[in-house]
Amino acid sequence: METLIGTDIGHAASLLRRGDVVAIPTETVYGLAANALDPDAVLRIYEAKHRPRFNPLILHLPSAESFNLYARDIPEVCQLLAEAFSPGPLTFLLPRRANVPDIVTAGSDLVALRIPRHPVALELLSGLSFPLAAPSANPSGYVSPVTAGHVLQGLGGRIPYILDGGPCTVGLESTIVSFPDGNIRIHRYGAVTPEDIERVTRKAPVEAIGQQNAPDAPGQLKSHYAPVRPLYMGDVRTLLRQHAGRRVAVISFRHRYEDAEPDLSLVLSPGGDLHEAARHLFQALRTADQADVDLILAEVFPPEGLGWAINDRLSRAQFVHRT
Ligand code: TXA
Ligand code: MG
Repeated sequence: METLIGTDIGHAASLLRRGDVVAIPTETVYGLAANALDPDAVLRIYEAKHRPRFNPLILHLPSAESFNLYARDIPEVCQLLAEAFSPGPLTFLLPRRANVPDIVTAGSDLVALRIPRHPVALELLSGLSFPLAAPSANPSGYVSPVTAGHVLQGLGGRIPYILDGGPCTVGLESTIVSFPDGNIRIHRYGAVTPEDIERVTRKAPVEAIGQQNAPDAPGQLKSHYAPVRPLYMGDVRTLLRQHAGRRVAVISFRHRYEDAEPDLSLVLSPGGDLHEAARHLFQALRTADQADVDLILAEVFPPEGLGWAINDRLSRAQFVHRT
């Protein structure tokens, strides 16, 4: 199959209406979208990505007013958060209604809902009579795409169309929250930070992080977000000493390290801005992965704001040695 890249929202819509998959831009990462109410269309997403069928998908909607169509028992804190951060990089796990196909939720009683903040995604969604199921548009297990070119590298030949909306402005996946017993639980760190959530709801969110194999959080599988080359995260000076003599790429926040080669030193934000660092993270992982190196070393980022999400993605990337 030939994969075309373009900016034709009408063409993307007509492919989606007839049950095809289309890669779409969002502010976080590119998604691989299909009609969420058509199980055959959704199946094509799993096939194109080689995604395990037990890993459920996020439903993308044009506005929070339609949450009620697919979810029930929506708590007040959810509404507060939706008013503050939707459209935006926040995904809500809510009790599903029966019209959401099983293949979307992988059998879970919860459905994941999100309103993306990208103008192209919003225009596309507003013109459709159905929500879009969309995981990140990468082969299952690899780093998520933040440009149309990344999607082509990973899924070229497997999907008909990539709707190009430019580079993603957030650069890592949405924050995922659920509301067990009136609490707020973070299932995945993202651009909406724990600090943001607490400020709006006056409630400190609880972490579901660390339960890496919890059945209700398949996104926590260690095999997510991983480059092919081994990645070690920690004190980079120490790691450079430990791996002396090997070719390394270094991913750091503000500064280069003297012992690392300048062209393999990937500084994410010389000015020390965690938003900028997040935006550059996945490109840096790809650049390091494609360089002629034995391994990738990465700093631990400050544990605040976007630093939670950056550290989460890096720490999951470090465990995996894919074959
Ligand atoms: O920013 C994002 O969220 C991007 C863009 C395209 O919207 N999407 C994304 O999708 O990152 P994906 O599938 O790569 O990650 C979604 C995560 C998965 O780890 C999945 O396990 C979890 O959300 N998830 C989805 N539905 C769920 C459900 N019903 N219960 C528990 N976890 C769910
Ligand atoms: Mg993904």
